[in-house]
This record gives sequence, C-alpha cells and structure tokens, in this order.
Amino acid sequence: MCGIVGYIGTEDAKEILLKGLEKLEYRGYDSAGIAVRNGEDVRVYKEKGRIAELRKVVDSSFETSTGIGHTRWATHGVPNHTNSHPHQSESERFTLVHNGVIENYEQLKKEYLSDVTFKSDTDTEIIVQLVEYFSKQGQTTEEAFTAVLKLLHGSYALGLLDKENPDVIYVAKNKSPLLVGLGEGFNVIASDAMAMLQVTDTYVELVDGEIVLVSKDSVTIKDLDGNVIERAPYKAEIDASDIEKGTYAHYMLKEIHEQPGVMRKIIQEYQDDNGELKVDADIIQAVRKADRVYIIACGTSYNAGLVGKEYLEKWAGVPTEVHVASEFVYNMPLLSEQPLFIFISQSGETADSRAVLVAIKELGHTALTITNVPGSTLSREASYTLILHAGPEIAVASTKAYTAQIAVLAILSQVVAKDAGIATDIDLLPELAKVTAAITTVVDDAPRMEEIARDFLATTRNAFFIGRTMDYYVGVEGSLKLKEISYIQAEGFAGGELKHGTIALIEEGTPVIALATQEAVNLSIRGNVKEVVARGANPCIITMSGLEQDGDTYVLPAVHEMLAPLVSVVTTQLIAYYAALHRDCDVDKPRNLAKSVTVE
Ligand code: F6R
Repeated sequence: MCGIVGYIGTEDAKEILLKGLEKLEYRGYDSAGIAVRNGEDVRVYKEKGRIAELRKVVDSSFETSTGIGHTRWATHGVPNHTNSHPHQSESERFTLVHNGVIENYEQLKKEYLSDVTFKSDTDTEIIVQLVEYFSKQGQTTEEAFTAVLKLLHGSYALGLLDKENPDVIYVAKNKSPLLVGLGEGFNVIASDAMAMLQVTDTYVELVDGEIVLVSKDSVTIKDLDGNVIERAPYKAEIDASDIEKGTYAHYMLKEIHEQPGVMRKIIQEYQDDNGELKVDADIIQAVRKADRVYIIACGTSYNAGLVGKEYLEKWAGVPTEVHVASEFVYNMPLLSEQPLFIFISQSGETADSRAVLVAIKELGHTALTITNVPGSTLSREASYTLILHAGPEIAVASTKAYTAQIAVLAILSQVVAKDAGIATDIDLLPELAKVTAAITTVVDDAPRMEEIARDFLATTRNAFFIGRTMDYYVGVEGSLKLKEISYIQAEGFAGGELKHGTIALIEEGTPVIALATQEAVNLSIRGNVKEVVARGANPCIITMSGLEQDGDTYVLPAVHEMLAPLVSVVTTQLIAYYAALHRDCDVDKPRNLAKSVTVE
C-alpha cells in the first residue's frame, strides 16, 4: 500500500513522476503528491483522490529535473490534503515520501519533538521532523538520516529531498519494497519496477538496513555503519505492453481474458523436455519430508490455498491446514514436528504473510513461497520459491493469479505424489490443457455472463454463493470478488450449513448463486437450492456438462472435477465484473482497497 517514485536527471521530472505514480495507483489511490525542485526552490503539489486530480494542480511551467512522488492508501490520518505526502519538516528544508507504517512515532515525538507543532496526523511526519532535529544539531543530512533510521520501528520505503543538497535523493527501506532504477545521466527510485519501465529496465534491489544516495550519475549503497556495499543490477523481465490495458475497458477484464494464456505458460514452464511435469527436486523433498503443510495466505490467495489443500491431501497424501496470515501470527496452532510452510501471495509483499514468515523462521521452520513476483520479499526470504508466471496483475481484484496459484499447487501435489509413488486418478498435463480450452469457452461467453449479472445482480443489496466441497471454496472466492468490486454484500457458504443459520437471510428475490460441478454432492447442493427457492430466493445455477439439470443457468464444459474450480471461478469473475459495471463502480480501483497490502 502506498507507492513511491523519485527521479534525478535532466528531463522534466514532473511528467516522469506523474506517469510513474499512475502505474503505482494500484498500491493506493486515496491521495497523491509530488515534490519537485529547481535548486533550492522545492515545490510540493498534492491532492486528495487520484493522480488525475494531482495533475490538475501541478504547475506545468515549473522547470525541474529532480523530484519524489507518492500515491497513498491511508493508514494514519484521514485521506485529505494535509495528510497527503510529501511531508515537510518545520523549516521546510527536508521533504519526504514514505510507504509503510512507523509503529513508535508517538514515543519518538514525545522523546525528541514535544515542542514541534506537527502539521499532519500521519506517522510519516515524525521521520522528516527528526531528520531536521538531528541536522540542527550539526549532523550532515546523511548522518541525520542514518540516525533517524536507527530509531524507527516499523516498515518504510523512503525518499528524502534536502534543500541544501540539491544533487541527491536520500533513500532507505525496511520491510516495504523499493528499487533503484539506473539510466544514462539519470537515476530513479520506485516501489515497483513497473512504475519506471518508461525510462529504464535496469534495477538494483535494496535491502533492509541500508541507506542509499541517489544522484544523477551515481548510486551509493551503504550499511548503517557507513560501509559501502556493491550490488549488481538486474534487468526487469516485464514487457511494457504487459502493463497496458490495450483494447480492454479495464485491467480486470484483460486479466480475466489472459487466463487461458497463463495456463499455457504454466504448462510450458513446469514441463521438462520429455513432456513430464517438473519442479525443483529440493522443493519436492521439502514437501515429502513434511509431516504437515501449513498454507499461509490472505484474501484470494487464501481461497486458492483452500483448493490447494485438497490437492496436497488427496494426491500427495500430506496433511494440510490453511490459515489466514493475520490470525496465524497472533494465534499459532500447535505445530507438527516437521512442518513445511507454504506462503501463497500474488505480490509476494503482503505484510500479514511476511509477519508469519518472520515468526516461523525464528522457530527454525522451512518455507516455500508461491508468488507471481520473482525477487519479492516473500520470495527472497523463503527457502524455496515457485513462480506463478501469470504476468503483472494490475487490477486490484485478483483473477489470473488465483487460477495460476491453483494450477501451480496442482502441479506441486502431482510431482510429490509421483515422487512418493502414489497413484492418482489424473494425468495432469492433458487435463490442464482441457481446462485451458474450457476457460477459453467461458471467456468467449462473456456476453452471457453480462446477462446473468444484469438479471441477478443489477439492483440487489445482497447475494449468496453456495456450494459443497470444491464448489464451496469457489463460492467463497466468487463472493469476495463480487463484494470488493460491486459493493453488493455477498457471502459464500457451504450448502449444508445454510440451515444452521444463514437461511434466515433469504428473502423474496435474494440471488443465490449455486455452484454444482462435483458429482458426489450434485444432488445434495441441488437440495440446498430447493430449500432457498422455497423461501423466495432467485437461484442462478452454474454446473458442469454431465451434471446439468433442466433450468440450470450456465453449463461449463466438462473438465476433471478436481480442476473444476479453475473454470467455474472464471464465471464468477466475469459475473462480478459485469455486476460492478451495471452498478457504475470503478472496477479496477474499488473503494478503500489497494493491490499490495504492505501494512499489517
Ligand atoms: C482480492 C485480492 C486480495 C489479495 C490479498 C493477498 O481480489 O486481491 O484479497 O488476494 O490481499 O494479496 P497477495 O496475494 O498479494 O498476498
């Protein structure tokens, strides 16, 4: 949450910063701001709302080739002009952007700055005021910044300007992501390489506990004791076209449509020259050695974990638990003797999951991260990584990462089963190819999903998803997608659980989306549909070829039923998308949310 950028060079910094922030809007869009300088003249422009609003207040005639920028997802202080970044010190000598949360800002304020009047309600302001405090005591900016970093508890990615040192942007990070991008006669900083692909594809990763001095022609990385650190740059493997919407109206629609391509890519990446599934042998052994797998994730990734548990247990024979990261960290269950932790995270930056990773590493346990972002924090800090190969996911509502996560978990479970000599009833590669074709059929049927969204969800206040076994998990994910982008109050329930309370919520016309793709529970979920219909519900039944009955709303092409979630979820993604459109919601940037949740 929150994204930061910085540029120091010879071109117009305003435009580069604004374009960079537009690419980072997925990290938060409560407010945005830039600080740009021409020598000692530092101008701050900030505005509540989107980057488009910020553009309106930036003085386009101000000449500048250095600056920093920020897009905010509010944590401390309401999203207004004053609380927007950049923040300045009392004398306005120092100007700062920050992504993260400073946990001890109140103590630091009491201890060092009780006589300073703070301008904002943010935790960030303490940092810039403290830099001024130490510099007033005679320290150089680098010394003052280092002294402050040593005092901070919490997470941060920081870019700092000093009026009196026009040739440097001071940079540091702890837990929040931050990269330095390298160019000819300029350098940049960014929370994500995507932001600055417009000017460079060459980046240097920063590590916690470093201070970095970025000037037009050089980048100097030091540890907090002043020792210089050398680090080789790398090329970002993102194609600029991957992060454009192209002809699609929204990123979410584009990403839903990309799912057949993602399946093909995964099939290709996880296959050896003999057409066999391949996963790093160390990872297979790590799963085989485990007496229990603990899947840790949040939101949609958690929902993918629920499906993954079925594969790990039913195919690989490994007992598996799935936990919400933010709960696990405070309420750890009794762990088995040889646990393996699997972190599932599209971004690889989710703070709740990272907190668990830190905790279990302290206990000496092993972790595997399944992520879309190579080099992300969760990937770097785990012993092993499996990559999703889904390409950048920009819409806040996750779609292609969910199906990629399930596919990778299926592959992992199958290779472990094979290694352990366990026979399963599925030949995964051809079945994944069938899934790819079935997803293509569903995305080609988007107009039908639009009708379903209009018929069932255009005006409703609430909606329920029901299913049993695998379908229950998909219902939970379908309801999350619907609620986050259309603001319809939607919940997913196990069909058999309705009668234990939830059925009280069914009224005349309440939409109930029932998923019926599993033969063993086909009749029982249909019994549940009858129960809600008897109470006035408007049922939308999504089933699979071979299981259909008269009156079903949509019939999916047949696939292996363990893989049905990969296909049925696509209908729920499209239905949520069109429901949000019918209700005039901002599909790609739903209110109050951010893509990468880097605060606990
Ligand atoms: C919902 C959604 C979120 C994320 C969650 C975890 O559409 O995208 O629920 O799944 O914030 O994010 P990652 O997977 O990046 O750890």
